[in-house]
Parts: sequence; C-alpha cells; structure tokens
Amino acid sequence: MSVHQLSTLPRAVHGAFLSAYGGAAPRLFFAPGRVNLIGAHLDYNGGDVLPLAVDRGLYVAARLRHDGRVRLRSLDQAQAVELDTATLSARADRALGWANYPLGVWSQFALMTGQRAGVDLLFGSDLPMASGLSSSAAIEVATATALDALHGTALDRLTLAMLAHRAETDYVGVKCGIMDQFASALGRAGHALLLHCHARTHELVPLDPDGFELLVMDTRKPRTLATSGFNQRVRECAEAHAALRAAGIDRACLAAYSPADVARVPPLPGVLAKRARHVVTEMGRVAVAVRALRAGDFATFGRCLDESHASTAHDLEVSCAELDVITDAARSCDDVFGARLVGAGFGGCAIALIRPGSAAAVEALVAARYRAAFDVAPRFEVLHAGPGPRELT
Ligand code: GLA
Repeated sequence: MSVHQLSTLPRAVHGAFLSAYGGAAPRLFFAPGRVNLIGAHLDYNGGDVLPLAVDRGLYVAARLRHDGRVRLRSLDQAQAVELDTATLSARADRALGWANYPLGVWSQFALMTGQRAGVDLLFGSDLPMASGLSSSAAIEVATATALDALHGTALDRLTLAMLAHRAETDYVGVKCGIMDQFASALGRAGHALLLHCHARTHELVPLDPDGFELLVMDTRKPRTLATSGFNQRVRECAEAHAALRAAGIDRACLAAYSPADVARVPPLPGVLAKRARHVVTEMGRVAVAVRALRAGDFATFGRCLDESHASTAHDLEVSCAELDVITDAARSCDDVFGARLVGAGFGGCAIALIRPGSAAAVEALVAARYRAAFDVAPRFEVLHAGPGPRELT
C-alpha cells in the first residue's frame, strides 16, 4: 500500500464514523499488527519469542456514549453490531462474529476499571485479515488504547497488553499465549522484542535497517485462528508437559525443558514426543538467532528461520502445502537469508528475510513458483518495525 493510501485510511475511518453515527467528532487511535521473527508456538509454552510490531495495523475512531449502548462497525466487515451493555454475556457470542474482540476488551476494561459507559467504535485495517499478522490482537489493543484514553484511566502499556490478552483468552476463548497482544502494545520502531513469556518480561533488540528487509508473503490460503488446530496444539503441548512431569522432571513450563531432559525420560506417547521436540529445539534456535541478530550475522539468523519452519512443519504439524512451497521458493533465491511461516500456521502468511533492495527480484521468482503450484498469485509486502499503539491527531 502506498504512503498516500496509508494516510487516507485513518481519514476514511473518521469519515465513515461520522456518516454511520453522526454527532460530534470521534478520537482516532492506532495499534499495530505483529510479525514473529522466530519462536513459533513458544508463547503458550512459556518460552522466548522475537516478534516486532509492524508499520501496519488497525485504526479505530471512538466516542463514548452515556446510554449504556455499544455500537461497532468496521470498514472490512459487513456485520454491524449494536447492543446494550447490560445484556453483554461474560463470554463471546458466536453470532456477533468479529465484534467479540472489541466486546471482550470492553468487558475486561469494565472489570478492571469499573468504567461501564457505552461507546461507538468504527474500525479500519491495513493488515490482511486473519492472515497471521495478528489482526485480532491489533483490534484488541486499539480498543483498549481507545477506552483508556476516552476514560482518562492512564493504564500503562503492559496493563493494556494484559487486558487485551484476557479479552482473547477469557472472552473470545482462544487459548493463545501473550505474544500478539504484547508485541502490539509494546512495539518500538526499529526494534524487535525478545519476550520471555513465562516471566512476562521483555528486552528490545535493535534491527539493523541495512542488514535485512522483512518480506511478508501472503499465500492467500485463508485460515481462522479460532477454528484451526491451534487450541489442539495448546492442549497437546500441555499434555506433553504433564507427561514429562509424571516421568519425574518437574519444570515450570514445557519451554523450560532441555533436549537432554526429554531424552532422559521414556518416549512420550503419540504426537506428544514431536510436540515436545519442537518446543525444546525451538528454544535453542531462538537463542542462536538472537545472538546472530545482535552480531549482525544474518546468514545464521536466516538459517534459524529455515530450521524453525522445518520443525513447525514436521514436529508441530501446523504448516501446509502452500506455506511449504512459498518458503521453499523464497529459499531458492540468492538474496534470501531464510524463510518460515508466521502466526499459528495452517495458511496465511510466511516471512522471508531478504537482502535490502532485493524485494522485486525475490517476489517475481516466488510468485512464478507459487503460481505454477497453486494457480494463485501470492501477495507481498515489505514491512518495517513500527511503533506501538497511539492516538492520531
Ligand atoms: C498465534 C497465537 C500466538 C502464538 C502464535 C504461534 O498467532 O495467537 O499467541 O501462539 O500463533 O507462535
């Protein structure tokens, strides 16, 4: 999307708000989506992940109302929702579709602050929906940022991240880890976040703009996080952790086990052995990758991404033919350091780390290979590490 289009989106959101709801001008907020460089499916296992907030995300125009009603619209969704907050249940109502995300934030915000005023919200996104760049976390963090500003509650970003995360786990019912909401709420331009998910602490890792560019490759194979095998992977990893504890090695989370721990106990049953192997080996890859990134060794960093993809494909089994072909095609280009799927997997986007300035050549080659396999034209975007949530004036 061009700079021109980018700057017109917030204006379109503002204009659509006024035509839908009328009345006084709303305030306008933004929260970014995220890309996880490495650390696949480690957040809900208490491991280390390395996401960055991207320079794309979710805009929301917002205005409080004092009659207890909430109205929700989006430029990207046909469904508009209007309801009385008194009738809001404690859990998502499937019939309300996408609106469950902001409604989850509204109810978590009310629980935390006691503020229960109604609100008019209108969203617009320049992230591809449900493609692995975490549009759901962006919508949650944008809503939390808006409610916080409108009520003047001055919550810090960590609190906003945790509130947004509870909206997803407790209200929407997706048993995700903390990565997406934390990356969106704590993002910093020009930096990745090394997030220690068990301790809920993070370090900023600077990204060298001359070192590599981040190419996002959208397979255009749709996936819906809530209906995918994501919750099943969460369950399997929990079972693997329980089996390791039952075998006599008691650690706080699955990511805290070493490959040597896993080798010491009798083989875990069924798929659990593979799931555990992914988690403990991915922890090692994150450590190597972060060291390489800090040292400017992009070849090693890229290799870690390739190995991460292989592990998510074979041991975690969350890849698919489209993600395998698109990342393979990227790896066949000289200017690519490494490639892997992002997000939950099962479709959506992959990333390639490429030499600066090589995007057009890489895209042409990958598009040709991908089109030959699936007769679908993938979409590409070079994204950058952008800032966290903010109010636009
Ligand atoms: C989804 C979840 C995240 C994380 C990733 C996999 O995006 O929302 O919490 O588990 O999958 O790394």
